[in-house]
Amino acid sequence: MKFFVDTADVAAIAELNDLGMVDGVTTNPSLILKSGRDILEVTKEICSIVSGPVSAEVVALTADEMIAEGRKLAEIAENITVKVPLTWDGLKTCKVLSAEGRMVNVTLCFSANQALLAAKAGATFISPFIGRLDDINLDGMDLIADIRQIYDNYGFDTQILAASVRTANHVTQCALVGADVMTAPPSVIKSLATHVLTDKGLDQFMKDWAKTGQKIL
Ligand code: E4P
Repeated sequence: MKFFVDTADVAAIAELNDLGMVDGVTTNPSLILKSGRDILEVTKEICSIVSGPVSAEVVALTADEMIAEGRKLAEIAENITVKVPLTWDGLKTCKVLSAEGRMVNVTLCFSANQALLAAKAGATFISPFIGRLDDINLDGMDLIADIRQIYDNYGFDTQILAASVRTANHVTQCALVGADVMTAPPSVIKSLATHVLTDKGLDQFMKDWAKTGQKIL
């Protein structure tokens, strides 16, 4: 499973990228706001760090305007993926930009039928939002599994990009059901390294080592 990092924080992206943990990046208007940066500038900087797909989201609501915004965003770098919302106009935009050979990520997906439409419109990635479904007491992971089965049934090559990943358990479940990619904030990716028994075991080793009175260096 590929790891995308869901942030526009350049320092956080660079740290994870140096460790080989970043296969791509996703951003959205809320993350651009959080960064406090200009969308074109920060996206260009991210693309200079990461060689994999970098999603930059359009903000228009009509297809003609989304297409124009998407083309402008795609000029930033070769690895830009134009991110469009799962609306009828977003699907029209997806169809046009995909036909031009651009990568398109269809976002804000909350149903298997929406994912089916995105695949038929030629999406490179479909982004089902797990956490936001969990927030309203639905099981976001069921949606990932349903889309996996539907895409496999018909041989769609649209990649399932599990989004709104909030916990380490979400990451494990995404890998188990066969998501192609998951995108998560840096804090969630870092949390994958922690385990209470690792901390407990290391603490005991340090106490015993101190009692030996030895040094390695
Ligand atoms: C993905 O592309 C989205 O930007 C993101 O995963 C949304 O996550 P949230 O629901 O935690 O805001």
